[in-house]
Amino acid sequence: MEKFDVIIIGAGAAGLFCAAQAGQRGKRVLLLDNGKKAGRKILMSGGGRCNFTNLHTEPAAYLSQNPHFCKSALARYTQWDFIDLVNRHGIAWHEKTLGQLFCDDSAQQIVDLLLKECEIGKVTLRLRSEVLSVSRDEAGYTLELNGSVAQAEKLVIASGGLSMPGLGATPFGYKIAGQFGLTVFPTRAGLVPFTLHKPLLEQLKTLSGVAVPSLMSAEDGTIFKEALLFTHRGLSGPAVLQLSSYWQPGEFVTINLSPERDLGDFINQERKAHPNQSLKNTLAKVLPRRLVECLQLLSSVPECTLKQLNSRQQGELVEALHRWRVQPNGTEGYRTAEVTLGGVDTSVLSSKTMEARDVPGLYFIGEVVDVTGWLGGYNFQWAWSSAWACAQAL
Ligand code: FDA
Repeated sequence: MEKFDVIIIGAGAAGLFCAAQAGQRGKRVLLLDNGKKAGRKILMSGGGRCNFTNLHTEPAAYLSQNPHFCKSALARYTQWDFIDLVNRHGIAWHEKTLGQLFCDDSAQQIVDLLLKECEIGKVTLRLRSEVLSVSRDEAGYTLELNGSVAQAEKLVIASGGLSMPGLGATPFGYKIAGQFGLTVFPTRAGLVPFTLHKPLLEQLKTLSGVAVPSLMSAEDGTIFKEALLFTHRGLSGPAVLQLSSYWQPGEFVTINLSPERDLGDFINQERKAHPNQSLKNTLAKVLPRRLVECLQLLSSVPECTLKQLNSRQQGELVEALHRWRVQPNGTEGYRTAEVTLGGVDTSVLSSKTMEARDVPGLYFIGEVVDVTGWLGGYNFQWAWSSAWACAQAL
């Protein structure tokens, strides 16, 4: 039997960073992953450039049954700490929008950074590793692996959530929590595109590929002002991904397709200047033409000149564009979701160390925990912060 101080399951963002930190603090660390590569989601992230943190990271950007839980870890290992690490590794980066930081070159640089840090910490990394069973006695945790047995005083679960099974996601972490009597909140896909009912999808099919700035609101009052993208399956783009984390099946979302310009005022001004201009050409000055054509078909307002447009018709059109109410059919689910909402109940964990209060030596970090960030680097920052907090306590 091989003995270690700490075994970490999951060589994703949280597991790699925790292993490196614990190793550098003198712990003998075994890091296990079922995949053939470490950090597979990191490699896929940010369109291959990894949106590794967000300048505006703050607890309000995270969803959890206990919104206070993330505060301690985020305050102790901040976005500035990770940026400092990225700088020390000489990785060039840039802010794209809304505080989102990306590598200039490639997400591989972040994986290389983490592997280098693990190397400094003398971490034993074992890929293609299946954990067949986990048991606990006075000596700590014994893991039956494919072909060997490993033991450690402390066990860290960093196996992530259910999103993107194609990248190795499994319910392993939730099962271990259940095995040790810890509560796991129901999970659902987050940061995921909406699908639409067939008739609406059919009506919108000419819009596939059209992107517009938007202001989207959920029934609970949450609002995001970001781009909306029409797709052949439904609605996507940053605004939709963000709002999907706040949406429940059956609910409506309200979409303002012209958040920067009051279209009623715009039509009034245009009517004064160009009364014979067509409605379509007027709206096409400020909205994508394909969107205008499609919405005219959807509304009962016929094509006409501005002087022919009566106030009821104008009101109807403006309402449809500023307050378009859509009831999504569902989401694309874990297959394309960037994150998993829900997970291990934070009330059973210490927010300082991530250790299960009633199961000494068992820790949960990263996405497996019921803490989910917004789109834009917030989820990686949670992985780094929770991993760092845990590593200090190992
Ligand atoms: P993560 O999922 O990274 O790692 C878990 C690891 O555990 C995996 O390597 C998996 O193979 C392993 N594992 C699972 N079950 C196991 C088992 N039974 N035995 C052994 N190993 C097991 N976030 C962000 O902030 N910025 C971004 O740009 C993006 N972009 C992005 C793109 C895409 C396509 C996705 C799917 C997700 C993102 N995210 C993101 C979200 C981000 O990737 C996610 O929040 C973190 O990777 C979570 O880190 P964890 O280490 O907790 O899990």
